[in-house]
Amino acid sequence: MADNSKKMWGGRYTEATDAFVEAFTASVEFDHILAAYDIAGSIAHATMLEKSAIISSEELEQIKSGLAEVLADIESGNFSWSVALEDVHMNIERALTERIGETGKKLHTGRSRNDQIATDIRLYLRDQIDRISSTIRKLQSGILDLAADHTETIMPGLTHLQVAQPVVFGHHLMAWFEMIERDHQRLADCRKRVNIMPLGAAALAGTGFPIDRQLTAELLGFDDIAENSLDAVSDRDFAIEFASVASLLMMHLSRWSEELILWASPQFDYIELPDRFCTGSSIMPQKKNPDVPELIRGKTGRVFGSLTALLTLMKGQPLAYNKDNQEDKEPLFDTVDTLLGSLTAFADLIPAIAANRDNMRNAALRGYATATDLADYLVMKGLPFRDAHEVVGRLVADGISAGKDLSELSLETMQAQSNLIEGDIFTVLTLEGSVNARNHPGGTAPSQVTRAIQRAREAIAGNN
Ligand code: ARG
Repeated sequence: MADNSKKMWGGRYTEATDAFVEAFTASVEFDHILAAYDIAGSIAHATMLEKSAIISSEELEQIKSGLAEVLADIESGNFSWSVALEDVHMNIERALTERIGETGKKLHTGRSRNDQIATDIRLYLRDQIDRISSTIRKLQSGILDLAADHTETIMPGLTHLQVAQPVVFGHHLMAWFEMIERDHQRLADCRKRVNIMPLGAAALAGTGFPIDRQLTAELLGFDDIAENSLDAVSDRDFAIEFASVASLLMMHLSRWSEELILWASPQFDYIELPDRFCTGSSIMPQKKNPDVPELIRGKTGRVFGSLTALLTLMKGQPLAYNKDNQEDKEPLFDTVDTLLGSLTAFADLIPAIAANRDNMRNAALRGYATATDLADYLVMKGLPFRDAHEVVGRLVADGISAGKDLSELSLETMQAQSNLIEGDIFTVLTLEGSVNARNHPGGTAPSQVTRAIQRAREAIAGNN
């Protein structure tokens, strides 16, 4: 039979915890990854207790060196986590007390696991946000390098997955850059609300000890202290906000994955993915499968699922802390791991993409991608746009029946539809003529794309 005298809260209990309930309610299996943050939080808390004359300086030294030893044991794998001790906090506190004796029991003065766990998750998440931000920067600089190689590589721009107008590949890549730049900004904004310290809220109402919350916050690098103790221990909106930022980011990566998968297919054949990012089929010897982008597209669902899990976890909770909140960890950790893994893969993959310039160009030549340019030409010669649209539509029909692109139609054929068309039309109908014409900020003209890349490089330099 289990013995509750081992429990840190066993005082009032007369019956041992049911073995199933013990395992069911424990979180140590997953929250042990917070150990280093838990210990950092405890050292800051103890330091503050000493400065506030709540513990002595000898006691502080004992606690600090004991915790350092516990951390070393955990990091070297010499620590055995106990489910009977429920979570990371009580496992560490017990190990400390076993090492340093009675003083270990003073660490929890003026604190509760409720403000402790809220602090641990915030410290963890702040670190992860910083890792994610710098991985985004690495991916962005890979995108910029690839885009710089392709400011003149023409490909079809699509709407409805159909050839619409020619663009340069570098412009397409810069669209990706913009998406992830907004993600980076959202993450930085989310970090501001993550980096607020709950400690001092104790169980829910604060503590009767004369604590100095500002000092603990400074020691832990928090920007500020949480204003309200009830809010501090209970809300997980910062984690939900992170999961929503992560969901947007994964949604972007998933879109790019879809494009990479299409482009690498024999039907498109625009790009070659490096072999080291692909796998073969066990039955079809010819296959080279784009597994990494496919997996990223698939993993996006996990992150959306975690966002939903966290929102649902929070929505029914009355103030203040409820055990429901223990369920915040696995979705949050999984979101961090999935996001970091996907970004790391892309940061490596994107700069290694080889573009098949000829195939991209040939694809732009099929599908009447310069039809709008012809219409614009007629408008400049004085024809209203609607009429120009009609004329060009008839010429496209001529092209389809003759099996020719617009640029391959004879001047006579074109003039039969509109006598405004003259010999200068042929430069307008080239792919280069078309992209060069879109010469304003945000347009696909190579000179504009070059400038956009330059601006982007400046924007990310020294801004992590
Ligand atoms: N393992 C708990 C959690 O993750 C720690 C806080 C426990 N607090 C409590 N009052 N039972 O939320």
